[in-house]
Amino acid sequence: MKILVVGGAGYIGSHVVKALMLKGHDVTVYDNLSTGQEINLFKQNCFVNGDILDYPALLSAMRGQDAVVHLAAKKAVGESMENPMLYSVNNISGSLNILNAMVECGTKYIVFSSSAAVYGMPDKSVIDENVPLNPINYYGFTKLEIEKFMGWYDRLKGIKFVALRYFNAVGYDADGDIRGKELNSQNLLPIIMEVVSGKRDKLKIFGNDYSTPDGTCIRDYIHVSDLASAHVLALEKLAQGMESQSLNLGTEKGTSVLEMVAACSSVVGHEIPVEFAPRRAGDPAVLVASANKARKLLGWSPKYSDIKDIVRTVYAIN
Ligand code: UD1
Repeated sequence: MKILVVGGAGYIGSHVVKALMLKGHDVTVYDNLSTGQEINLFKQNCFVNGDILDYPALLSAMRGQDAVVHLAAKKAVGESMENPMLYSVNNISGSLNILNAMVECGTKYIVFSSSAAVYGMPDKSVIDENVPLNPINYYGFTKLEIEKFMGWYDRLKGIKFVALRYFNAVGYDADGDIRGKELNSQNLLPIIMEVVSGKRDKLKIFGNDYSTPDGTCIRDYIHVSDLASAHVLALEKLAQGMESQSLNLGTEKGTSVLEMVAACSSVVGHEIPVEFAPRRAGDPAVLVASANKARKLLGWSPKYSDIKDIVRTVYAIN
């Protein structure tokens, strides 16, 4: 298939590009390099330095494409609450440009990076796709709205989509083919690695009074190469006639913040200094995926199940 990967120079996008190319797809990366990096471009793929807000440029890249993988978005939860306008424009208007360009060019399939943030603070700790959608931050709201727009473009224009709701994306390509480290990430594992490298004194653990076995928050950390393989399967299933779907991607296994710190200590071979800090606003105690639907519909399963194996892929690039 001829596939336009929008945001293909980014952290997750670069891993998706590699997975698609290894399956023989003809990939064009479209990225404005705002957070993506040229060093991430996998082998000889075709690259267009373009912005999703530049409709004529997007349209010209879209011509002749069979499918789109759309990973271009702003994704900092805190920033989305302070500057929602940035998220309205980049995430919502940018995605509408992509859908409109698809209609104009006759491109039929789209796989979209959605997020567990569409669920907000669910009552349940194991989340399947039937849990009510109730985002509690503007970032999550934009992801949910884009899923709804895709639903309408399916009904009205026959565009078939898969929205992949990522849980916590972590790790790097184990073969070392993708060398760009994600810049300025505020997520747990990158911050622990900054403590390891001496850039920070210690890790602040946000809350140790949650109703979890060790009092710290539990998340479902999914390796980025496992996310990537799901994108390939989703596109192939769409091309075989699968109906539009929203699917969770996670390992179905929870890891607490303290367990993550222990795994990192064991991989790097020394203690990692931590201090307990107050809870961070908007953090649910436990978020673990049910990935049953993705398993059934895509035949997908994650290869990385051991958190230390995941941490090793992060330590290798740091
Ligand atoms: C959030 C979003 C997710 C988004 C991701 C990327 C929700 C529910 N989830 O995940 O959709 O894709 O950000 O930005 O909105 N922690 C610390 N100390 C730190 C950093 C983190 O203790 O310095 C803890 C957090 O409290 C949390 C866990 O580590 O319990 C993971 O945090 P983080 O990596 O920021 O991801 P989420 O907030 O789970």
